[in-house]
Amino acid sequence: MSAGYGTLTAIGLGPGDPELLTLKGLRLLRAARWLFAPVRAPEAPSYALEIAWPHLDLARQQVVALVYPMPRDGEPDEAQWRANARLIAAHLADGSDGAFLVEGDPLLYSSFTPTLFTLQDEFPSLPIRIVPGVSSIVAAAAQAHLPLARLDERIAIVPATSSRRALREALERYDTVVILKVARHFEALLDLLESLGRADNAILAERVGTPRERLERDLRALRGQALDYFSLVIVSGGWANG
Ligand SMILES: C[S@@+](CC[C@H](N)C(=O)[O-])C[C@H]1O[C@@H](n2cnc3c(N)ncnc32)[C@H](O)[C@@H]1O
Repeated sequence: MSAGYGTLTAIGLGPGDPELLTLKGLRLLRAARWLFAPVRAPEAPSYALEIAWPHLDLARQQVVALVYPMPRDGEPDEAQWRANARLIAAHLADGSDGAFLVEGDPLLYSSFTPTLFTLQDEFPSLPIRIVPGVSSIVAAAAQAHLPLARLDERIAIVPATSSRRALREALERYDTVVILKVARHFEALLDLLESLGRADNAILAERVGTPRERLERDLRALRGQALDYFSLVIVSGGWANG
């Protein structure tokens, strides 16, 4: 008789620095039989797997790639989410445990979120646990010695893929605005920051927590440069550059 599904643990692995993984995340990562690693395409690398790599024992653990294509025109690929959820359930059906590897925190713009909802919908008896992780946002602020909010300041998090209007509204209404996924949208974002007079109090953080980390306090110096997908901008309430 089946003992029921094993537990799926979504583990926030932090932004890339191996020391920014929680003790709980590390314990459950090592205990998992299956390691579910999100990728953009079948043979593409997984950044989350790269972060977890030094802690794995591949004689005992097995990696299962889950494809989450980059959404085109904002259209979610629900069929793919369902296929991923079924693949996870099939691996855990014999009672073995799995870890869903997530870069940063699992509930902040991650592939885990659609999986969570799909699993709850299709496999309600499959136990799910979530271990929070250090987000790239707080890691970038720490590296830049930049307060994210003080006293009664307000903070917004906005992806650069949002409309220009949404970005403008956030920049007009909030003291600190964190902008994720800036890479391909950087020039347009910089134009907007300049037009609102907020370009001087902003930093760009790229590949935080990795050997390729870069912090840039002069955003204008980045014009014309190709930026990594793993880059973000923090527009500060006034503390960024002096
Ligand atoms: C899909 S979101 C994932 C966010 C992640 N779950 C977190 O908690 O940080 C990807 C975006 O997060 C930001 N990001 C993630 N890791 C980063 C890093 N190590 N350095 C700078 N930005 C990063 C970038 O803006 C990137 O485009």
